[in-house]
Amino acid sequence: MSSPRIALFGANGQLGQDLSSIASARGLTLIALQRPMFDATDAAGLDAALADLDFDVAINSVAVTRVDDCEKDPAPAVAINAYFAEALSKVCARKKARLVQVSTDYVFGGQDQRSPLDEDAAPAAINVYGQTKLQGETLARQAHDDVIVARVASLFGVAGASGKGGNFVETMIRFGRERGALKVVADQVMSPTSSWDAAEAILDLIRAEAPAGLYHVVNSGAASWHDFASAIIDRAGVEATVSPIPTSEFPTPARRPPYSVLANAKVEKALGRSMPAWQDALDRYLKVKGHRQT
Ligand SMILES: NC(=O)c1ccc[n+]([C@@H]2O[C@H](COP(=O)([O-])OP(=O)(O)OC[C@H]3O[C@@H](n4cnc5c(N)ncnc54)[C@H](OP(=O)(O)O)[C@@H]3O)[C@@H](O)[C@H]2O)c1
Repeated sequence: MSSPRIALFGANGQLGQDLSSIASARGLTLIALQRPMFDATDAAGLDAALADLDFDVAINSVAVTRVDDCEKDPAPAVAINAYFAEALSKVCARKKARLVQVSTDYVFGGQDQRSPLDEDAAPAAINVYGQTKLQGETLARQAHDDVIVARVASLFGVAGASGKGGNFVETMIRFGRERGALKVVADQVMSPTSSWDAAEAILDLIRAEAPAGLYHVVNSGAASWHDFASAIIDRAGVEATVSPIPTSEFPTPARRPPYSVLANAKVEKALGRSMPAWQDALDRYLKVKGHRQT
């Protein structure tokens, strides 16, 4: 297929804005869909809302991303993370369009494995957010056979998560400057990932017409949140100390995965290139945001 017509749902989000920017720089045809053009809580109305829209590939970057809010009130997460994904997948099946369903490392967390998790690892979500995102993956794949599930993780992007009102990098820099001393959990290990790099990889998977299925779309390497915070403070030149604490000292309504590092060999093979290390992605991010000069 030469340059497919892409419909992006969630264009106003952190990942969505990078997908839009990269598509525009590449001269791709991307239809940016956001509220109020559709309402992801209204799965039943989606068919009618999209009746006149023509596209070859849909990217679903819509989600309820506030993990603790999902735990306290699961209904929006069930509707949006699970049933909107299913409804969009059904529309894609009818239109014979490919769906790229964006998912998360939080489909893991309850497993024993403490080495990078590949696409064959059995999911084991431990909170409502992860469970509803996993349900979204499953329902989308049951509804249509041409679905790519792109699992991303711990995103940091220039726009900041619209659902969360920012991102971890900016929070650490702000708190570091204000407080001079940070305490950050050291027993949750994950794959820090730039939303720019994830967006490039997703658009590259579309261009490569990669086979349907699961892909772990993350930067290379792993870090605890304490490792990540230490690197942010150090590389941004902020005068602050960063001390490790256990999760038990930072209780939250939703449990977080102690280990959710994703192996990205499959996406690297599909793209014929390596995914940048998270430290490299962080340096580029800090430069773009003006937190670092060199
Ligand atoms: N952020 C992370 O660390 C992270 C980690 C792993 C996976 N992910 C996944 O990556 C994807 C993108 O996340 P993100 O960081 O870009 O999050 P985000 O900035 O919060 O973007 C989510 C998008 O969903 C839209 N949305 C929410 N409810 C909606 C509704 N009822 N109707 C229409 N649109 C609605 C939001 O619209 P508004 O802008 O209008 O609110 C926003 O554009 C999601 O699938 C998420 O699960 C994110």
